[in-house]
Amino acid sequence: MIPRTIAREGEVIVFIDQTLLPGRLETVRCTDPERLATAIRRLEVRGAPALGIAGAYGVALAAMQSEAGDMEGFLAGLVDAAGYLRGTRPTAVNLGWGIDRVLAAAGTAETVESAKEAAVAEADRIAAEDEATCRAIGRHGAALIPDGARVLTHCNAGALACSTWGTALGVVRSAVEAGKEVSVTACETRPLLQGARLTAFELAEDGIPVRVITDSTAAFLMRRGEIDCVVVGADRITRDAVFNKIGTYMHAVCARHHGIPFYVAAPLSTFDTVRSEAEVVIEERDEDEIAVFNGRRIVREGVRCTTYAFDATPLDLVSGIVTEEGVFRPPFDLMPEPRNI
Ligand code: MRU
Repeated sequence: MIPRTIAREGEVIVFIDQTLLPGRLETVRCTDPERLATAIRRLEVRGAPALGIAGAYGVALAAMQSEAGDMEGFLAGLVDAAGYLRGTRPTAVNLGWGIDRVLAAAGTAETVESAKEAAVAEADRIAAEDEATCRAIGRHGAALIPDGARVLTHCNAGALACSTWGTALGVVRSAVEAGKEVSVTACETRPLLQGARLTAFELAEDGIPVRVITDSTAAFLMRRGEIDCVVVGADRITRDAVFNKIGTYMHAVCARHHGIPFYVAAPLSTFDTVRSEAEVVIEERDEDEIAVFNGRRIVREGVRCTTYAFDATPLDLVSGIVTEEGVFRPPFDLMPEPRNI
């Protein structure tokens, strides 16, 4: 049984260190917002909805620890924490969304004490909403999954990427809960292997059939008729594209070529439809994530590596976007307004 990815216990934020999985399932007890920022940067906590919760709890930690005597000093401390938390990862829109919700809640209070309470309550609300949202996404998405479906997924959009249940894997879990037989092909997801390490782990824990492939095997399996649909999560959905883990776009292109539906499962908090693809900053990671393997440099010294963490899939390759309020379908002219504040 996997505990919640991230949760609050009194004045402590407890999160699973996902860098240790699947070998060790260990939690970190964190009281320092800067430590939480480091955890986000190191992908100890990762996945868009979990980042929303982590950002929210980061600001809540700063609130709980504040020694400011007046609202001005208190809010300045929160804005400072919000700044370094927000700066950790630029692509997943949920991070800033969670941070801003807590800042706004604290900002409406009149005293430091009530602002602290408001900040913590709002962060708790974000965490609680996430489970309900994932369950609703799962219910809507399960209807799209035929009995016996062989689902391809990329990266990890599961319980570990949320507080629990998951978005893309929430769709799979809900389909299984509804009595369907579903098996998952998990792309390993180079270079940090969220598919091999995390998706395979959490599905196996739940007894859902899963196999792992290299990312480059996906097209071949589609050609052989071994994939019935693709279901992935998202880090940001603009008015023209879905941003998700690097490699997602090639699955969408291959799925279209083979006539396979390509679904995205994401909460409304991931929508950023005031922006278009060109306006989004795509995170670039440290070159060593590609250049170093098993502690040894495998790329010749001096050769540059390109390390985009995400790519953009144009909406015309997407068969449906599953949200907590239902499924958006092509031509996507009824896309939701962004709910970011
Ligand atoms: O770099 P990561 O591991 O944070 O990337 C995660 C993904 O790309 C997920 O697919 C996405 O955040 C959706 S999680 C429900």
